[in-house]
Amino acid sequence: MTDLADIASVGRDARRGGYSRHGFDRAEVELRQWFTEEAARRGLDVVPDRNGNLWAWWGKPGPDAVVTGSHLDSVPGGGAFDGPLGVVSALQAVDALRARGFRPSKPIAVVVFVEEEGGRFGVACLGSRLMTGAVSPEAACKLTDPDGVSFGEAAHKAGFDPLRMGRDEQALRQIGQFVELHVEQGRGLDVPVGLASSILAHGRWRFTFTGEGNHAGATLIEDRRDPMLPASQLVLAARRAATGGARATVGRIVPNPGGTNVIASSVDVWLDARAADDARTREVVEAISEAAHAAAVEEGCEVRVTEESYGDTVHFDSALRNEISGVLGGVPALPTGAGHDAGILAGHVPTAMLFVRNPTGVSHAPEEHAEPDDCAAGVVALASTLEHLAR
Ligand code: GLV
Ligand code: MN
Ligand code: MN
Repeated sequence: MTDLADIASVGRDARRGGYSRHGFDRAEVELRQWFTEEAARRGLDVVPDRNGNLWAWWGKPGPDAVVTGSHLDSVPGGGAFDGPLGVVSALQAVDALRARGFRPSKPIAVVVFVEEEGGRFGVACLGSRLMTGAVSPEAACKLTDPDGVSFGEAAHKAGFDPLRMGRDEQALRQIGQFVELHVEQGRGLDVPVGLASSILAHGRWRFTFTGEGNHAGATLIEDRRDPMLPASQLVLAARRAATGGARATVGRIVPNPGGTNVIASSVDVWLDARAADDARTREVVEAISEAAHAAAVEEGCEVRVTEESYGDTVHFDSALRNEISGVLGGVPALPTGAGHDAGILAGHVPTAMLFVRNPTGVSHAPEEHAEPDDCAAGVVALASTLEHLAR
């Protein structure tokens, strides 16, 4: 059986710990190859779509298929489960259904979405956003990684034509229902398997503070316009603004040029903000922006705010969720603060998510974990779900 252990050596990050696998980088391309071989070994036909996503078909590709899958990329220094668990479980569920002689009356497809984490090009769920038209191909292809390589260039190198990217009606028509299995990412589940009810509204904002690059020793304190000062005020403002269940995080600060004895000329601060609904999320970001502007003025700096990506609250299809819960004998439904390709698809097709218990609640970190028995229960639940939907 295909297992997470099969890919345990791919994309390990010796410096950060855990895994760094990003859209179309060497590790992710190797995992795509692995997926293609695993699918071929099962006689599934792998058909890439126009936007960099891979589809492995059990049955003839066509409309109204039952689609499952997830992503193979990670955050920088991420865990082994976020993404790959959904892909491996999908392949195992196909094996389990075949082993019991199930013959689907609808096609079943396992999909791998590209750049779900946005760890390389900055925008999360890039493959599913392109497919649904939530991001334009022009904007997506212009996104660059830290080395200045654009998504368009990386996609081209991986064999995709940027000129053919964009909303894919045919792919959307192919999805009758989408079910993504994922490791739960908080401490919300105390049984092996659950279902997702909703996802917080969330987005990413880039604050670019501009000051004056100068010498760390020769420049008097009163002569400085140091963008790192308002940048650090933003971090504190984010914590202050995130009240009442809202979340605001600065996980990435990039000073330019980034030298110990150099006052930065500019600093990019990436803000991740999430809350129950659109209005509350906007309010949190507004409060942080106000604090950032005031701190910039005080230091004689400027600040420019760019909304890099955004998605409103997702409420998963309750009819599909209840149906699956019935098939599984009644499992808990829980909300999540984490984003997923399923959240992007939920606005277009009936979508559900199965969660596998996370004993510590740690995720987006090397310590992310799920017990083997719980993962096995996830496969059983996914197989039962696919069997029910494709019967
Ligand atoms: C993806 O995992 C996210 O929630 O940002
Ligand atoms: Mn993630
Ligand atoms: Mn994920």
